[in-house]
Amino acid sequence: MISVTIRSYYAKDYWDVLQIDREAFSPSNAAYDVYLYLKYGSAIFVAELNKKVVGYITLMELEGGNAKVMSIAVKREFRRMGIGSKLLDEAIKWCRARGKRNLLLEVRVSNLPAQNLYKKKGFRTIGVTPNYYSDGEDAYIMSLNLEGQ
Ligand SMILES: CC(C)(COP(=O)(O)OP(=O)(O)OC[C@H]1O[C@@H](n2cnc3c(N)ncnc32)[C@H](O)[C@@H]1OP(=O)(O)O)[C@@H](O)C(=O)NCCC(=O)NCCS
Repeated sequence: MISVTIRSYYAKDYWDVLQIDREAFSPSNAAYDVYLYLKYGSAIFVAELNKKVVGYITLMELEGGNAKVMSIAVKREFRRMGIGSKLLDEAIKWCRARGKRNLLLEVRVSNLPAQNLYKKKGFRTIGVTPNYYSDGEDAYIMSLNLEGQ
């Protein structure tokens, strides 16, 4: 059984988050991704294992009492150990504490690992955004209803 701590992001976590983002998404500019998380994110949580940051989740508050997962990623070697699930649990807790109605996200139609994780937490697919990603791939829009639960 591994012992993972989920905590809020500190400035000292910047390089770890950058590297996890780069490994997970191969963006043309990972620093720009992290800039967006810091500028527009309402909350960032990191997963710490043996004092090392091995994953993160970023959330953005939306109008209408909703929130959105901007990004979630776990370092490759630490995947499939329940860390993504714990990060998402923390995000859901954060949303509930603020009375959010829905937690939304976009996910590549080809990203079955992430879709499985979201479905396991109760997310449902509510739409498709064609051409959402820069390479032309479509995104599923998924939503978790937090009201009355
Ligand atoms: C998606 C991601 C965050 C999941 O993190 P993780 O720590 O591996 O997830 P967990 O170990 O908590 O898995 C929880 C559940 O998700 C599903 N899942 C996770 N990885 C999976 C895989 N490779 N194949 C199928 N289902 C998978 C399973 O249902 C799993 O439960 P189980 O292990 O009991 O079967 C991780 O794969 C990742 O960082 N991917 C790259 C970045 C990414 O795609 N982010 C999502 C963008 S929308």
